[in-house]
Amino acid sequence: MSTLESYPAFINLVKERYSCRAYDLGRTSLDHDLITAVIDAARLAPSACNRQPWLFVVVEGEEDRRKIFSAYQRDWILSAPAYIIALGDKTEGWVRPFDKLSHIGVDLGIAVEHLCLAAASLGLGTCWVCNFDPAVLREAFSIPERYEPVAIIPIGWPAPDSPATEKHRKSPEQIIQWGGFTH
Ligand SMILES: Cc1cc2nc3c(=O)[nH]c(=O)nc-3n(C[C@H](O)[C@H](O)[C@H](O)COP(=O)(O)O)c2cc1C
Repeated sequence: MSTLESYPAFINLVKERYSCRAYDLGRTSLDHDLITAVIDAARLAPSACNRQPWLFVVVEGEEDRRKIFSAYQRDWILSAPAYIIALGDKTEGWVRPFDKLSHIGVDLGIAVEHLCLAAASLGLGTCWVCNFDPAVLREAFSIPERYEPVAIIPIGWPAPDSPATEKHRKSPEQIIQWGGFTH
């Protein structure tokens, strides 16, 4: 496939992905093959120095759903059949020598978005969730100190009436400065 042919399919997928905050309560379990498939897209993501400083903890079922809720107390999250907790391995991440900036946040961001796009390509809904209490999540799932919980990704079939949110985005003019920093 040439670049010209593949761009429309790619950009359509990017446009189709949205933050799904209502899952189909009639489909309470999710095939593990599908979860493995979306995590495979994360596995193939680039990372600084190819360190791949990630671990994906998949949880499902009522008990774990309640644990997720204890760290992120929004009713909508209870509708998801499964959750992927994306962890950054602090001992594996690349640290830039000049300013000691750890890049696990960058690496995890890329990998998790690969995962979300892969899910969208399968018709599955996901939502980035970072506004959780990390201490509560760590305690609930016995996450060792070595790992930084970066995001909780609920995943499942969108509710039939789940609205795909409208994209409110800055314009290209607002975010591109050609030829150098001007303002
Ligand atoms: C790093 C990150 C953290 C986010 N955390 C949350 C969150 O805690 N709860 C939530 O409902 N949405 C969260 N979101 C979703 C954003 O609100 C959403 O991506 C944005 O409003 C754009 O909407 P869209 O994803 O439907 O295009 C997060 C998104 C990102 C990228």
